[in-house]
Amino acid sequence: MHELVEAAREARAEAYAPYSEYTVGAALRTADGTVFTGCNVENANYSNSLHAEEVAVGSAVAAGHRAFDELAVSSGEQDGVTPCGMCRQTLAEFCGEEFPIHCDGGENVRTYHLGDLLPETITAEHLGVER
Ligand code: THU
Ligand code: ZN
Repeated sequence: MHELVEAAREARAEAYAPYSEYTVGAALRTADGTVFTGCNVENANYSNSLHAEEVAVGSAVAAGHRAFDELAVSSGEQDGVTPCGMCRQTLAEFCGEEFPIHCDGGENVRTYHLGDLLPETITAEHLGVER
């Protein structure tokens, strides 16, 4: 099994999802090889719920990383779920079109590229901002 998918599965085990009961884990590899993980953290008001990918990106950025090489996502159903639109946009802040996203389909892992999941998206360039 894909090493990063294994890390996403482990992260999923910590998910706090009493409302949806849909647990998600994410594992993000930085350019220097460090892996940051995240899980979904739900809230009684529903809308404050954090997504696994956001938590992984937030943890990595908080530790000083802004260059990322790949992401793996695993849901409790191992249904090959891809990051939602919001998470795709969060990833696009730091990752280019070729950024690989490995999705856990149980026996098989399907890899997508961010540019295919979220084409023609807004970036810092559109705002004339250099980062
Ligand atoms: N979820 C994620 O963690 N990542 C996604 O991109 C899709 C949705 C979580 C949010 C919520 O806790 C549960 O999955 C059901 O939507
Ligand atoms: Zn999401």
